[in-house]
Amino acid sequence: MIFHQIATGGCLSYLIGCAESCVAALIDPEARQIDRYQGLAGREGLRIRYVIDTHTHADHFSGARHIGQALGVPVVMHRRSSVRFVDMRLDDGDILLLGTMRVRAIHTPGHTQDSMCLLVEDRLFTGDTLLIGGTGRTDLPTGDPDALYDSLFTTLRNLDPSLKVFPSHDYKGQGSSTLEQEFALNPRLQKRGRAEFTAMMRELDLSAPMHMTEALRTNMSGGKTVAQMLSDASAKIPFMSLAELKDRVARGESDLLVLDVRERDAYEQGHVPGAKHLPRGQLELRVNSELPDPTQRILTVCEFGKISALAAATLRELGFMRAVALDGGMQAWRDSNFPIERS
Ligand SMILES: [Fe+2]
Repeated sequence: MIFHQIATGGCLSYLIGCAESCVAALIDPEARQIDRYQGLAGREGLRIRYVIDTHTHADHFSGARHIGQALGVPVVMHRRSSVRFVDMRLDDGDILLLGTMRVRAIHTPGHTQDSMCLLVEDRLFTGDTLLIGGTGRTDLPTGDPDALYDSLFTTLRNLDPSLKVFPSHDYKGQGSSTLEQEFALNPRLQKRGRAEFTAMMRELDLSAPMHMTEALRTNMSGGKTVAQMLSDASAKIPFMSLAELKDRVARGESDLLVLDVRERDAYEQGHVPGAKHLPRGQLELRVNSELPDPTQRILTVCEFGKISALAAATLRELGFMRAVALDGGMQAWRDSNFPIERS
């Protein structure tokens, strides 16, 4: 088996491939690592054939939909998943063929109702059902301590104890474990009675994961995160550095229209000398009257250098083919002590 474990902070994803037939599956891809997965697969001579999420993630951004679309391959999840864009839904016991390898889905609800573990040769990809020294929590949407108890103490307990455990999260850089080690040492698995285990899970009192609202929204709908929106916009436009703009302003360059897209009060408190004001929220409404020349070179400016990228991408889409965004925003401009004009 060709095997790569890719860590993104505490989140783990996996690229597994069959060396003989050069086909691969991607397990629990993270949205920010899409280029890395494709690079790794290319380096190994693998073609990714399936993108599999072990469950609906609430704490990080799944890259499943976007990489599935980019590669034209199915996104695979358990049948009970409420994620809209899943192409192939698996039942307990279903097998995916990966060249000479077999990927078997084992339904292990509890952390979420759609959680599954994936058994591939001597490895068990446990998602958030079983972590190294822990388990997934059961207090997020569709979590159920009783179901997790059954998944751990019946389903996983009946598998070969020598199976290597590869979870979706590992905050201590341990990488892997075995079922035997986990049943012997994992503190949560020492609570062997149902009542004891479920009481422990109910009493964990964990804080909500960061970005949970955005993660559930995007992971369930396939919509974009704000970071993805900005990244996509940034890929469509060129930028100008703060220093370059300062020099051009000092030279009094007339060819360049600096367009400040912040709200009026921010603009009035201080803007790049000579900048024209057109808030991002009114760009499409006023573009025809305010920006009559599509051949004009327009530089968009905002507070932090993010919304200006969206504005420049919109202008390019509208036909302003020389629109660029400032690489940085007014905050960085002020921090650099570059000249300010007040209205
Ligand atoms: Fe999870």
